[in-house]
Amino acid sequence: MKGLLTLKSLSIDQIKQIINLAIDFKNGLKVDFTGKKMVTLFYENSTRTQYSFQMAMLNLGITPLSFNLAGSSVYKGETLYDTVRTFESLGVDGVVIRHTQDVYYKELDPIQIPIFNGGDGTSDHPTQTLLDLMTIYEEFGRYEGIKVALVGDIAHSRVAHGNAEVMKRLGMEIFVSGPEQYNDHTCPYIDLDDAVKTCDVINLLRVQFERHKEDMNITKEEYLQKYGMTTERVSRMKKNSIIMHPAPVNRGIEIESDVVECERSRIYKQMTNGVFVRMAAITMALRGELRY
Ligand code: CP
Repeated sequence: MKGLLTLKSLSIDQIKQIINLAIDFKNGLKVDFTGKKMVTLFYENSTRTQYSFQMAMLNLGITPLSFNLAGSSVYKGETLYDTVRTFESLGVDGVVIRHTQDVYYKELDPIQIPIFNGGDGTSDHPTQTLLDLMTIYEEFGRYEGIKVALVGDIAHSRVAHGNAEVMKRLGMEIFVSGPEQYNDHTCPYIDLDDAVKTCDVINLLRVQFERHKEDMNITKEEYLQKYGMTTERVSRMKKNSIIMHPAPVNRGIEIESDVVECERSRIYKQMTNGVFVRMAAITMALRGELRY
């Protein structure tokens, strides 16, 4: 299969190559794929991923097509495979897919055009991981030895799962923090007050209410005070450390509203970098340099 499905199957050199190309795009590199067409198939809601992929396509001269799930034949029972195969038959040159099912792309093996994973269930979100890594690299100039605390709803977060796997391979030190009920025990636990004193990156995660089977046993105000990034915690952060969050943010829950655009926050820079990493992934896939 061609495209970008998961970073787990890519080497560290390949991952660094994508990020380096993204930095080249940010510095003004131009690549032109005029005449190509790509479609974004989103079976789950999205603002950043869907539209930054579309911005990346436009920047590369590619015509983006949007898929209107509600008005599509998915509601007549058409499968994911049949939907993607249909777009391939129509002459589309690549598809971006977000789906509720973990590793949905396994059933798409016969598809010949590149597939870009815009998030699968709670498993992986490879372009989010790439834009997070690019943001960290721009800040610190290296990955090795950078201490990252993944904070919040770890269990339901594809960003946490994807980031932890690649960050560990890059020699970064990864901790998790937040409520015990959302801890999946894949990394050492750190109390948030220790994390703000010692970690270089506080990588906040959205509380994913839509995936919860049970209510949180805590009010939103209590969550913010116990597990959230408050202005008071910002004042105790390690020198030169930064705050990241994949967004959308729950203001007043995992992050106090004034922290969203504070001096330590890189949240909007992450979004900007998202366009460049998606340009890089599309470019390498259309050149046949990304395959599984
Ligand atoms: N970070 C992220 O994936 O945002 P969207 O859900 O808006 O795409």
